[in-house]
Amino acid sequence: MPFYCYILECQDGSFYTGWTIDLVKRLQAHNSGRGARYTRSHLPVSLVYYEELDNRADAMRRERELKKKNHNSKQKLINSFNETLESPLLKAIPDASWLVISPGRVNFLGEHVDYNNGVVLPAAINRYVKLAIKPHGDNTVTLHALDLDASVEFSLKDLDHKRDVRGDMLPDWALYPASVAWAYQKEGFTPGGMEAAYMSNLPIGAGLSSSAAVELAFAEYWKTIGAWEINRMRMAEICQYGENTYVGVNCGLMDQFAIAHGVARCALFFDTGSRTWQPIPLPLNTAIVIADSTIRRKLSASDYNLRREECQQALVLIQQQKHNICSLSDVLPKDLEEIEGFLPSVLMKRVQHVVEENERVKQACRCLITDDAPGFGKLMVAGHASLRDLYEVSLPELDALVNIAIQIDGCYGARLTGAGFGGCTVNFVEWDQVENFSNTLIDMYANEYGMTTSTYICSPSRSVHIEQIGE
Ligand code: GLA
Repeated sequence: MPFYCYILECQDGSFYTGWTIDLVKRLQAHNSGRGARYTRSHLPVSLVYYEELDNRADAMRRERELKKKNHNSKQKLINSFNETLESPLLKAIPDASWLVISPGRVNFLGEHVDYNNGVVLPAAINRYVKLAIKPHGDNTVTLHALDLDASVEFSLKDLDHKRDVRGDMLPDWALYPASVAWAYQKEGFTPGGMEAAYMSNLPIGAGLSSSAAVELAFAEYWKTIGAWEINRMRMAEICQYGENTYVGVNCGLMDQFAIAHGVARCALFFDTGSRTWQPIPLPLNTAIVIADSTIRRKLSASDYNLRREECQQALVLIQQQKHNICSLSDVLPKDLEEIEGFLPSVLMKRVQHVVEENERVKQACRCLITDDAPGFGKLMVAGHASLRDLYEVSLPELDALVNIAIQIDGCYGARLTGAGFGGCTVNFVEWDQVENFSNTLIDMYANEYGMTTSTYICSPSRSVHIEQIGE
């Protein structure tokens, strides 16, 4: 029987060290307040490090050793534990002095409402883009996208033309980092030159915001190095501005917000209209399983921009009749009947989705606060039906994944996550059933539809952050 010595990260960023024979059960015990006095008053906690040892005595000895280490040494140990992504990066840039860790995001509810001033409920997740950087004095950026096996060099003096130093158009993937530098310049800041490499364990183009994670990684670096006084919301807005204007994808603020504000074990309630937000812990004994349909979409080429235009058209028509409406999120459920009288049916479906989705998000927050996992799951399923029937951004493969998931024991709810048109579903599952759930979903999807899916068990993570490395 293996014994483990482990480190937990508590909600305030402090560490707790312990030993156990069952990591999963022990983590559950901590998170339900039965672990230790310290963790009970610092909940929720997440597992960030463990070592496997042969016997109890060794595990206890190692626990004593780790307990003596200070916070920084523990952080280093955790970093090396996460090295799977870092070693290729450090091989590419051996004298890198900064490492940025930028999470992806999943959205539980509140889809396609962030560009309508609505309320959303995403979380940053523990799958990351990692970026290693060596700053230099030139005005150029040399980038290596290790996952794509591609490199590019562009000048920070001439970003408007979207060309590399040889005069060729920048490849699509490089537009995201370039957009951040460009947007910072528009705000009057001066990002510096660098050689950088990045890679990710987030599936790319799968609706988990790998692009926003790249943007925020660069944004966090330039902001930190420049000691610019920009708060996290502003940093997210600058990235969104770059993506909208420079890359040409008309995204809302949800993804950049979630990556800039993530809190371990928490969903993030975010009112995109007032820009206020609040972390809400997920119920104990629940887990997030992401299922990848493996169908890839390209947001700029999809109907995403068309949906935004439809919302805008609907808003103009509604404002002609109802002067107090500034955004679709000002429409109340009781107004829908009247609006149906004058809106074309397609626009009506879009508006109904936005109005009801905002309501679902508010109800979902109440479910989280009262630990009502089944209630939360039902709202997710209703959200999926609305995305499928009213907003029309689902695909048969995503519908199939959801339909299968909700038949499996321990699944509270499932829905597509992100923009749709491909990508992933998010499943909200009883902790003890996670493995069985994942395996059954994979098998049933293969047997009934002849399709393959891969699943990722995730937990909500802290926001983008930067560490000094080397020396
Ligand atoms: C994409 C966009 C977000 C949001 C979602 C849909 O992820 O980047 O701003 O609009 O789609 O909810």
